[in-house]
Amino acid sequence: MNILPRPNLEAIKTYKPGKPIEEVARELKLEGKIIKLASNENPLGASPKALHAIQKYAHEIFLYPDDNGYYLKEKLAEKHNVTPENIMIGNGSVELIYFACLTYLNPYERLMRSNGSFMMPKIGAEVIGCPIQEIPLREYRHDLERMLASITAQTKIIYIDNPINPLGTCLWAQELERFIKEVPDYVLVIIDEAYNDYITAAEYPDSGKFLSEGKNVLILRTFSKIHGLAGLRIGYGVSKPEIINAMAKVRTPFNTNRLAQIAAIAALDDITHIKHSRRVNEAGKKYLYKELKKLKVFFIPSFANFVFVNFATDSKEIFDGLQQRRVITRMIKEYGFPNALRISIGTPSENKKLIKALQEILKP
Ligand SMILES: Cc1ncc(COP(=O)(O)O)c(C=O)c1O
Repeated sequence: MNILPRPNLEAIKTYKPGKPIEEVARELKLEGKIIKLASNENPLGASPKALHAIQKYAHEIFLYPDDNGYYLKEKLAEKHNVTPENIMIGNGSVELIYFACLTYLNPYERLMRSNGSFMMPKIGAEVIGCPIQEIPLREYRHDLERMLASITAQTKIIYIDNPINPLGTCLWAQELERFIKEVPDYVLVIIDEAYNDYITAAEYPDSGKFLSEGKNVLILRTFSKIHGLAGLRIGYGVSKPEIINAMAKVRTPFNTNRLAQIAAIAALDDITHIKHSRRVNEAGKKYLYKELKKLKVFFIPSFANFVFVNFATDSKEIFDGLQQRRVITRMIKEYGFPNALRISIGTPSENKKLIKALQEILKP
């Protein structure tokens, strides 16, 4: 007899990440260099300071990591002008989204998100068996007015990714401040800032302010993007100590590994790598916008390290054509965009290869 999973798991669509290079090479029997513009990694690679630290401490991996992540939390507390009790580290920031769902959602409560934003909170809520309040986007942005108007007594978590993955649009300080002020205090607002390091605009919200005002917010950051540590899986959340303590109850022991903690500490100090990565990303976006305009395809100017491109035709054809030409991008049909691809910004030569491949595929 088959052993039955909980019934609410049946409808869940397993999260599908961007395809790994090895898988595409194997499936399509491709040889030679394949470029991956599918998961918004840093195309320049890991922070050199982090790499150096990993090499130095690699021999220690026979030891369990510091379960409390003492040194990393100290460093992050200093960065955010909070105490280590305000911080939780996770096996990637997605783990913290999951922990927040496990900690706060009862099956009769609701998680609210924009329809078309990052998928992980939806999965977290579905695992609990908790209905989701899906709010339509407005002009490719979170519709904060509609979110506010849709809050009910059952709303427990509101998830906001800023910028939104996969669209790359941003909420600015004034509008987010107005929103947070109006959200009732029985709601936890998760503000996911995975791409914040790419943004230099003064209008980008300082979400630490909400915390110092005593609001129930959980701010998420990651080392997977500008720091180039996606393969190590490490991210963190900043919140009130009571929220961090509650979430600690659902955490598995040693959820972040020894080398990840060490690398993250080093990466925070790698200002050269951060600034260089930001410059390469900005230049890459500028180049891609110019070329995408020539190709007459619709795209959304992005505040992150990826761009949303709508081809006005089934994106699978474009995706397959790009893969045949050794460029992996990301289909986003499950986000509600059947004709679009999310394409990470690469190095200058990767961006050129992408454009050359698109020119071949789209030529009349
Ligand atoms: C909005 C958003 N949050 C979280 C993540 C995942 O980050 P991590 O690698 O830290 O789990 C991503 C990754 O693509 C993302 O786009």
